[in-house]
Amino acid sequence: MSNLYRFGISLEKDLIRDFDKHIEANNYRNRSEAIRDLIREELVKKQWLCDNEVAGAITMIYDHHKRELVNNLMDIQHDFQSLVISSQHVHLDHHHCLEILAVKGKACDVTDLSNRMKAQKGVMHVTLSMSSTGKELR
Ligand code: NI
Repeated sequence: MSNLYRFGISLEKDLIRDFDKHIEANNYRNRSEAIRDLIREELVKKQWLCDNEVAGAITMIYDHHKRELVNNLMDIQHDFQSLVISSQHVHLDHHHCLEILAVKGKACDVTDLSNRMKAQKGVMHVTLSMSSTGKELR
């Protein structure tokens, strides 16, 4: 027996027209797939509150010539060692480095780690990609 549950949704015509444009622009095969992703997106957002266990990625661009920056970033990563699953360093050009950290842990701790990195002088851009450990998603 299938574990799919079917239900009807009533929407304003303008809203469904805009939603269908979104579906087409994002190459969804049907409305169900698009709605599924929206629901998952909301559920993952909720996971990123307080003490929930989450996973994600921190991406940083920085100038490695800035004094002490590389050491400071390394110190911070060691302070949060239990959160950092893996890291990748790419030398973008003579000045700039791209570093990607795969992280897993409590949402507030991962956010704290990301903010600490962002606050370092010489760090030009940081993004925190908030995903899920997958346990609460189907
Ligand atoms: Ni580098």
